[in-house]
Amino acid sequence: MNNTPLWAKNSDVVIPDEVKAVNNSLPFDYVLLPYDLKASIAHVRMLESCNILTRETSDRIINTLNDMVKEGDELLNKILSSGEEDVHSAIEAELIKRIGEDGKKVHTARSRNDQVATAFRLLVADYIASISDKVALFIKALSDTAYKHTETVMPGYTHLQHAQCVSLGYYLTTYAYMFYADYKALKKAEKSCMEYLPLGSLAFAGTSFKTDRNMMAKELGFNAPSPTASYGVSDRDFLLETLHCLSVLALHLSRISEEFILWSSNEFGFINMDKRYSTGSSIMPQKKNPDIPELIRGKSARVFSAYSRVWIALKALPLSYNKDMQEDKEAFFDAFETTTIMLDAIIPFFSTLTFNTKRMEEESKKGYMNATDAADYLVKKGVPFRTAYRIVGTLVENISKSGVALEDLSLSEYKKASPLFDEDIVEFVKEINCMERRSSYGGCASSEVKARLDDLLNALRTE
Ligand code: ARG
Repeated sequence: MNNTPLWAKNSDVVIPDEVKAVNNSLPFDYVLLPYDLKASIAHVRMLESCNILTRETSDRIINTLNDMVKEGDELLNKILSSGEEDVHSAIEAELIKRIGEDGKKVHTARSRNDQVATAFRLLVADYIASISDKVALFIKALSDTAYKHTETVMPGYTHLQHAQCVSLGYYLTTYAYMFYADYKALKKAEKSCMEYLPLGSLAFAGTSFKTDRNMMAKELGFNAPSPTASYGVSDRDFLLETLHCLSVLALHLSRISEEFILWSSNEFGFINMDKRYSTGSSIMPQKKNPDIPELIRGKSARVFSAYSRVWIALKALPLSYNKDMQEDKEAFFDAFETTTIMLDAIIPFFSTLTFNTKRMEEESKKGYMNATDAADYLVKKGVPFRTAYRIVGTLVENISKSGVALEDLSLSEYKKASPLFDEDIVEFVKEINCMERRSSYGGCASSEVKARLDDLLNALRTE
């Protein structure tokens, strides 16, 4: 265990435990290991090509770094037990242990400030790719089920009240599009991570060495070096953008979970949860609880708070690097791990659900959800909409006392409300017909839903 930090001028500085506790980031930033190694290799290659390091020295360093890359967990264990304050210092110390004086040259024209910003951008971009792959899987699962249920009628709600009849497919397609928006936003955030390379910024003001930052940007897949060195080490907007995307994703996951919680209740009875994806009660033997969607709804709070943690940590930081920035990592890791857990749970939870389509159909007959359609019937016969609205409103108010549905009302009753009603009104107000007639772009008619699902899957394929 090393007690002397890399930055100590001599070995008589012993860091007290309480300082280590507040200062050391190795316990959580060790995950930057592969990204820092990759960036270090690019850095040394550049130093050699700019004649700042000799071929011999750079070969030694790069070969050793490459060996370290190959060692995987073995290296990770060494790094974790190194006692260094962060992963960057631990890698440098390990390099020096292996090759001595040449290893001490790796930090030429580099600073931990540009190192950490670079490794973190690479890591965040990589982690985004893993999240967006999972989002795409969920979109696929939602779309596949939606496709099968474009004609399965169910109540649509506003204010959680029966409003107009839609299809289960329509409902799910809306969520599929919300997750597609997340997918696109994540792809954009991934690009933002790779926009500017911090490496070569050094502490914050550049260097007198004639470095080639463009070469490193190209090698590491960045669009360009940061326009100012200070921007390179001070900027964490790529992280805020990413946390924003994760928060909106968590919000969508929470909202759809809320639907499943409601739908699994006796009052709705729209879904049956698979035994493996629901839980029991320790006292009530009959219970089947929706713990998974409840936990997803609950865990969304962790993601939102990670986002605000970073905002708050950054809000009063003067340029350039300040140690507060070290706080960005744990917040992000928690948001990333939480969204990963949420997605990994919701996909099988959703895929193993069964839908109680009979109950949905029964509920679709309640609540006069075809009242707008009855009004539209009159409008199509020339009655101004507001007048038609009033006629049907009064009619519904009268018949709701006896509980008769509009589709069960006799023609003579209809005629009393308006002589323009004819016998075709009975077919006209049937729920499935009402749903199928809403074929405006983005409407709930099955043809429309299928077309929008095709658009979505095509777009996802070409992303
Ligand atoms: N562990 C630090 C971080 O995560 C690395 C940068 C340290 N730089 C410094 N000037 N102390 O931000």
